[in-house]
Amino acid sequence: MGIEIKTPEQLDMMRRAGLVVARTLRTVAAAVRPGVTTAELDELAEREIRAAGATPSFKGYHGYPATICTSVDDQIVHSIPDPSGRLRDGDIISIDCGAIVGGWHGDAAVTVGVGSIAAEHARLLQVCETALWHGLAQARPDRRLGDISHAVQASVRGAGPYGLIEDYAGHGIGSAMHMDPPVPNYGRAGRGLRLRSGMALAIEPMVTLGTSQTVLLDDDWTVITADGSWAAHFEHTVAITPAGPWVLTAEDGGASGLARIGAGLGDT
Ligand code: MF3
Ligand code: CO
Repeated sequence: MGIEIKTPEQLDMMRRAGLVVARTLRTVAAAVRPGVTTAELDELAEREIRAAGATPSFKGYHGYPATICTSVDDQIVHSIPDPSGRLRDGDIISIDCGAIVGGWHGDAAVTVGVGSIAAEHARLLQVCETALWHGLAQARPDRRLGDISHAVQASVRGAGPYGLIEDYAGHGIGSAMHMDPPVPNYGRAGRGLRLRSGMALAIEPMVTLGTSQTVLLDDDWTVITADGSWAAHFEHTVAITPAGPWVLTAEDGGASGLARIGAGLGDT
């Protein structure tokens, strides 16, 4: 399968979807507190997406029953919101959200703490999010897919003895949520697909305090760490443009996130 190249007009539609996702994640993250259930967060997300005139992309995707994934503590990704899944002080929760506007997709995830969290968990979130931004900074014309993968991996490796998940990857995105190419979170710089203006990718590192081994639960969705260690997951949808990475699911287009790691829209 070829890689979908978007016109500037199509990227503008993806930006609209990306902004719906960004605002929904901000709203849901703000509602995270001890005592709230993951099902309540899901209802909030669905309301927010539909109020914006968009459609939740996860609902019905291969039979997935909800609008968001709410993966708590040792759950890495794809955990289904649950009316009995009540958050407790000190938990960490990955909220993964996708929306469609006019047939175009946005997909992003954040991990946030519930109440007050341990320093090692705060650091885990920071390591994972920083790795994501290092990957995003490589999303430029004439870079290679391996430059993104390698930047994510090098960022995590440089941070300490964290587990970096290899069983799941990011993906191309556009007229569908999951498209070619797969975007692994490890790889060799200078290798792989040459990036071109008009491509769009979802980059999504998953980092643990222990193993990189995963286990799929009997519900066929929930992915947990094999050793019970806690995991973080951050994701953005990014467009490759002549001016550099355009982070479609960041409200500021990625300016502040890229600046934080020392990469601007025009450099690195
Ligand atoms: N957002 C996830 C991803 O990045 C997909 C969620 S799977 C679903 O690939 F079934 F919940 F949609
Ligand atoms: Co994704």
